[in-house]
Amino acid sequence: MGFHTYPLERAAALDDPGRYRYCSREELADAILEGPKGTVLDLGCGTGFFTNDIARFVDRIIAVDIQPEMLELLLKNSPPSNVHPVASSIDHLPIASGSVSVAFSTMTFHEYATPAAHAEVKRVLQPDGLLVAIDWTRDGSGESGPALDERYNVKMAVDQLQTAGYHIVETATRPETFVVIARVA
Ligand SMILES: C[S@@+](CC[C@H](N)C(=O)[O-])C[C@H]1O[C@@H](n2cnc3c(N)ncnc32)[C@H](O)[C@@H]1O
Repeated sequence: MGFHTYPLERAAALDDPGRYRYCSREELADAILEGPKGTVLDLGCGTGFFTNDIARFVDRIIAVDIQPEMLELLLKNSPPSNVHPVASSIDHLPIASGSVSVAFSTMTFHEYATPAAHAEVKRVLQPDGLLVAIDWTRDGSGESGPALDERYNVKMAVDQLQTAGYHIVETATRPETFVVIARVA
């Protein structure tokens, strides 16, 4: 696991409202708004499906993706003016230390999760910053999303984040996805 990219020929599927079956705008906004106000960071934003949903609730959102083509698609989706796309790998963010209030990722943790990426996200979060990760669980049925052996479950994600120095605030496992909410310890 660790670093992956998303097949561009399937990028349109990221804009399918049927995805709210697995992660809703409401639950994501609710989790993000538990954190401090300020700059929010979307880790692996893709076409901006969730970025644009969340933008209306926050001051500023930096949308990071390693695939510049994804950011071009995000721009075609007419993002609000407080969305700032940045082409970058999560393990080397061109963002000042301690400048992000909340970082979140949707269906992307299995693609970027490495010790270097966790350390880098922690570096850019402010001392009371929050991380919200929602992803496909290895304990799911595999009815949608990546192959089960390409995923983590909530325990695996928690272990990684605790090793990286995060304090776990809340976790949940649902039929196909997990949620981890963590603070910089
Ligand atoms: C499955 S898509 C999900 C996109 C978006 N979060 C959503 O839910 O619609 C994962 C995205 O993460 C990006 N990605 C994967 N690994 C990354 C990394 N190490 N750094 C930055 N972006 C990454 C991919 O390029 C892809 O656009």
